[in-house]
Amino acid sequence: MTTREETELMCRTGPGTPGGNMMRRYWLPVGLSEELPQGGAPLPVTILSERLVLFRDEAGRVGLLQRGCPHRCADLSFGRIEDGGLRCLYHGWLYDVAGNCLEQPGEPPESTYKNEVKALSYPLVEKGGMIFAYLGRDTPPEFPDWEFLNAPEAHRFHLRTVIECNYLQALEGNIDPVHLSYLHRPLTRVDTRPVPGSTKSADVFYAEERRPRLDLEPTDYGIRIFSVRGADDDKQYLRITNFIMPCSAAIVGNEGRVNEGYAVHWHVPIDDYHNMRFDFVYNRVRPLDKEKYRTRIGNVTGPDGVTRRSLDNRYFQSREAMRTENFTGMGGSFNVHDAFATESMGPISDRTQEHLATSDRIIVRARHQILEAIADVAEGKEPRGVIRDPARRDRSHVVVVSEVIPKGVDPKEYWKSRVQKPQAAE
Ligand code: FES
Ligand SMILES: [Fe+2]
Repeated sequence: MTTREETELMCRTGPGTPGGNMMRRYWLPVGLSEELPQGGAPLPVTILSERLVLFRDEAGRVGLLQRGCPHRCADLSFGRIEDGGLRCLYHGWLYDVAGNCLEQPGEPPESTYKNEVKALSYPLVEKGGMIFAYLGRDTPPEFPDWEFLNAPEAHRFHLRTVIECNYLQALEGNIDPVHLSYLHRPLTRVDTRPVPGSTKSADVFYAEERRPRLDLEPTDYGIRIFSVRGADDDKQYLRITNFIMPCSAAIVGNEGRVNEGYAVHWHVPIDDYHNMRFDFVYNRVRPLDKEKYRTRIGNVTGPDGVTRRSLDNRYFQSREAMRTENFTGMGGSFNVHDAFATESMGPISDRTQEHLATSDRIIVRARHQILEAIADVAEGKEPRGVIRDPARRDRSHVVVVSEVIPKGVDPKEYWKSRVQKPQAAE
């Protein structure tokens, strides 16, 4: 069982909290490159309960600063991008991407006061169409070398949405292989693309065997998850997915069903009651049909064509659609199904009310790793998944598989054959 105290430790991530101290050891996504076009508006973001502003200056550099102007706290996200930085609308103070105050136009010309003022700023890495921040106050760790972030623009699709609950329960939906057979089950428009090694599609496997056998192994980044369903002729349908510390998962997704790529989801805490879901869809073989994705997962619009499906409108659930379209009756977007499952638990799910079962063993282990990481940080140690040695940046041992393979093959050996680059030491 997860106690109330453990839930508090894991779910509270504001400044100074043990969970927040743990989260601040990792690079976390804070925005998408496409949200900050050259000359575009600054983006107000709240991460780990810190109000911040993300912006791109005229030279194309990105910056993440405290939202409140260091002068008298007006919101910098309303500011102007000009003269080498972000200018506050109230009295015109100007800040560069590193938080240096470049101008205080209302002060006497001889004043050097601007040299004493600095906006809080965090280091950023922009890669693969995403912007990652390090919210620790020390030297940032190495940035992991993820295969998907090296994908050409045409081979990747991103989406950022807000989920109205704590990050942890949202994250747990990604490391829960059993729910595929229920929550996301289609009744019509069943996927017909065969899983490699078989003539059946993933949807058929999910529907035929609703009790996958689960196994796991801890890794240096989190957990490698094995989910096995039976297949014909002495074969097995193997899915390998991953929990990645502290708040993401590499899962099969739509491209992975035919083993051409995978999806990565992050659930970054906004505050203790909201999180930002980042979807990264990757296909290493062929360019993506981005329009399809915008419609399929980006379009969470309700049946009136305007209002988004949300807890407030009960996701426009339709009993008729439950009979004719899919299991939930909430439209075809998996993101809506996931939002229902996790938002409906309440802002922070009360784990003392749970009855965890054998099918929850991955979630139990992930909570254990998060608690272990919180304890490590409290003791001054680096938690699992933080890379300080540049020689260990490689993450090619994060492997996603959706294949039908002979029954005698050991999944815990098989994943090694699916590493895309030479395998790193674990
Ligand atoms: S509050 Fe920003 S310049 Fe005065
Ligand atoms: Fe899901």
